[in-house]
Amino acid sequence: MHIYNLSEKNSILNTFITEIRDVSIQKDSMRFRRNIERIGEILGYEMSKSFKFETKIITTPLAKTEIQSISNDVVLCSILRAGVPLHNGLLNYFDTAENAFISAYRHHLENPETFEIIVEYLACPSLEGKILILADPMVATGQSLLATFEALKPFGNPKEIHLAAVIGAQEGVDFVAKNFPKNTHLWIAAVDNKLNSKGYIVPGLGDAGDLAFGVKLQQ
Ligand code: URA
Repeated sequence: MHIYNLSEKNSILNTFITEIRDVSIQKDSMRFRRNIERIGEILGYEMSKSFKFETKIITTPLAKTEIQSISNDVVLCSILRAGVPLHNGLLNYFDTAENAFISAYRHHLENPETFEIIVEYLACPSLEGKILILADPMVATGQSLLATFEALKPFGNPKEIHLAAVIGAQEGVDFVAKNFPKNTHLWIAAVDNKLNSKGYIVPGLGDAGDLAFGVKLQQ
């Protein structure tokens, strides 16, 4: 797998990452969502540089001219609910993309340190021959991403797979690298060292879904 850790080189991206991590700033949920969206826009811009483009002719008010446009259709798939702001950021740039949504959540077992991933709702167009962008803001164990990818298999064979993530634990990144096809690209804004016993990324940012949309009751 090709891994692009975009915070390795300093840019404005690191300011947005700082803001989503900082408890004094993340209380502002509108700013939190918008920062995740801005990170999605940067991930989208960076990954677009690896896409194949083709020449087309368009007409400006002054002349016909050759332009370059992305050769393949794009499908943008996100995991509800934490993935929504990241999805919006990617969709701001890939505005003609088709969209897929899936619900995947951690169901905690009797031992609170163990959980399984439950996939329920899934709405997806054909993926055959298309560029699949699978967005998951927090790659903790990598299990939700893999469960999502497995659930998408009946919808066709994508030509390329791009994973878009905000923060990953090294463990989750390694899991994804081991379990996804070799030609997968992972575009990630930051990689942290640790995963705690409850499966949260440390230092991370806390619960991305709660920060974006409010605290939920545990089921
Ligand atoms: N999901 C989150 O929202 N945060 C984590 O740290 C891990 C998974």
